[in-house]
Amino acid sequence: MLDLRNDFPILRGTDVVYLDSAATAQRPACVIEAERVFNDTHNANPLRGLYAWSMEATDAYEHARQTVADFVGAKHAEEIVFTRNTTEGLNLIAYTWAMANLKPGDEVLVTVMEHHSNLLPWQLACERTGATLRFLECTRDGLFPEEAMRAAVTERTRLVCMGHVSNVYGRVNPVERMAELAHSVGALMVCDAAQSAPHIPLDVQKLGVDFLVFSGHKLCGPMGIGALWARLELLEAMPPFLRGGEMIEYVTRERATWAEVPHKFEAGTVNAAGAVGLEAAIHYLQAAGLDAVEAHVNALTDRALKAMQAMPHIHVIGSDRAEEHSGILTFTVDDVHPHDIAAILDSDKVCIRAGHHCAQPLMKHLGVGSTARASIYLYNNTEDVDRFLDSLSSLRSRMGYGE
Ligand SMILES: Cc1ncc(COP(=O)(O)O)c(C=O)c1O
Repeated sequence: MLDLRNDFPILRGTDVVYLDSAATAQRPACVIEAERVFNDTHNANPLRGLYAWSMEATDAYEHARQTVADFVGAKHAEEIVFTRNTTEGLNLIAYTWAMANLKPGDEVLVTVMEHHSNLLPWQLACERTGATLRFLECTRDGLFPEEAMRAAVTERTRLVCMGHVSNVYGRVNPVERMAELAHSVGALMVCDAAQSAPHIPLDVQKLGVDFLVFSGHKLCGPMGIGALWARLELLEAMPPFLRGGEMIEYVTRERATWAEVPHKFEAGTVNAAGAVGLEAAIHYLQAAGLDAVEAHVNALTDRALKAMQAMPHIHVIGSDRAEEHSGILTFTVDDVHPHDIAAILDSDKVCIRAGHHCAQPLMKHLGVGSTARASIYLYNNTEDVDRFLDSLSSLRSRMGYGE
């Protein structure tokens, strides 16, 4: 088992049990340090200045881009656009590719389990272009049967959007297969890797997708930095997203021409310290080994899942196999509102999430208003899981119900 808790300053010397990593992961000292070094020794506006600090800042920022490109298996560093987060990456695609290419009669296919970030931009793109939004349903357990996937893709489909790992189920979705189906009708495939990037090695070539987005803060990096990957030709053909400084080639009073990709999509002063922190987080995960991280997360998830399955009033959503959860355990407790579950656990210093998890259409599909969710990551240990289980086992009696 990994023993990494001490790498995380916020977890040192505290008895708080942090089980909300699917929302935001904690940051190891090396990530905080990488940002500090950048700020203390290289801080200047990158990509502009002709003096040493600015050039160092540019080098650090572009080095981070190469690291992200390698992390997702991109062929060129220029295929990485730094964004604020997954949400911004998906909006970038919607405002640029989708609004420039969709027309009435076209269809955009999303799955019913998408995070709102991978739904609302497509609602808007369809509203603006007259295209139609269609849904691929999943089973109660979060599976997409082959026949349903095949039936959902039609000659009119232009774009298919699927989360790689759902933030409610935690299961790895059939993105590769969906990309094949999308391409068979000439559609493009968007992959939301917000929940998979922290857990499984990404390879955009193998996945066969056209766009992939993720956030730094879910993989031990800073908030406010994320990335979008797309093939160079695709990025080159897309109009810019935000307009202003840094993204232009030449500007007249009336119009402008655009800088080369990826700068065309990075208007204004960039988050260079964040990119450096993201690079440090990627190196940290790679040093820990994503396989070792997953083995660790799965072992803890197994311990929690088996105990929860043995508690009669607790219902875990999704697979009954720990390795199909990516550390995410979404659950309900008979008679107890998820907000009460989270509040009682908080009184035991156990942090979990409660609510609709930004997946209201999925909650409706499952017939629940909200659920509770514990999510396990590389710094958690058996003591964390046991504290969570202890708290959970006394929950109903503390709410005045019998066992
Ligand atoms: C599957 C999924 N997609 C998108 C997002 C949005 O990420 P961010 O808030 O970093 O933009 C999340 C965050 O919880 C997520 O779980």
